[in-house]
Amino acid sequence: MKSVFDVIKKRYSARNYSSKTIEKDMIKKLKDFLDQNRKGPLGSEVRFDIIDATDYEHTELKKFGVYGLIKGPRVFIAGVVKRSEIAMEDFGYCMEKNILFATDIGFGTCWLGGSLSRSTFAQKMNVLEDELLPAVTPIGYTEEKKTLRENFIRMIVGAKNRKNPKDLFLDNSINTPLDLDSCGKYSKVLEAVRLAPSATNKQPWRIIKDAGNTYHLFMKENIAYNKALGDIKVQNIDMGIAMCHFELVAIELGLRGAWEIKNPSLEPGDLKYIVSWVG
Ligand SMILES: Cc1cc2nc3c(=O)[nH]c(=O)nc-3n(C[C@H](O)[C@H](O)[C@H](O)COP(=O)(O)O)c2cc1C
Repeated sequence: MKSVFDVIKKRYSARNYSSKTIEKDMIKKLKDFLDQNRKGPLGSEVRFDIIDATDYEHTELKKFGVYGLIKGPRVFIAGVVKRSEIAMEDFGYCMEKNILFATDIGFGTCWLGGSLSRSTFAQKMNVLEDELLPAVTPIGYTEEKKTLRENFIRMIVGAKNRKNPKDLFLDNSINTPLDLDSCGKYSKVLEAVRLAPSATNKQPWRIIKDAGNTYHLFMKENIAYNKALGDIKVQNIDMGIAMCHFELVAIELGLRGAWEIKNPSLEPGDLKYIVSWVG
């Protein structure tokens, strides 16, 4: 794998796929990766599979509910997680690992949590009573040129924009922006979080640095938005994606640490505590 940080910089939500068929050995490479990606950092079991719709007829393809918004996808990664309090974070973390792996080997991807027919994917994945199918991604070779619709979606959600670091990263309290120059290698770890994808690019991640190298992850939840899909909490998925970027880049930089649920004694205002990286 190339530098994880470079892969993170390279990834974007691709919405225009070429008709070039994915080679069998590439599908196998991806499948091998999915097969060993079975458990989230907080303990949830996940499972992923490739849904190859290359030979499907138009009417069958339409049932996936992703067409219109996304042009030409024929292959998808779908994923399933066991229901639990921390299922969405674990799912976000593991699925983002798939997405970074797929990006690294040359594919375009696009997290789809809203614009899909979840029941069609659930059927293909044989989702059980105690499982949820939170999101999928198309994978495939991308067209150089973005479609008009793709440019329009990217403009509406401001896909390129990211919040200012001083609004995302805080020092010991919600009132003090973190001085990134004082964080050493962790400044790059935080930048990797800032580049993460998030549902409608809302970037709900807030990180409060505590004494030493402890970083507490909080969610700035848009409650109505996060409730809209019932048990599928897209902003909690976003938090799992942030954990993935944080951890992979920390490891790449030789920073050791582990995730712990610590309930820190900070006064986070309306922020919801998720997990801490204890470095
Ligand atoms: C959990 C999640 C769900 C998403 N769902 C959709 C979706 O249903 N449809 C879509 O077009 N994009 C979806 N996106 C993509 C975001 O709009 C995109 O990540 C964001 O605008 C930032 O753009 P970028 O990924 O190109 O950096 C989703 C992203 C995440 C993380």
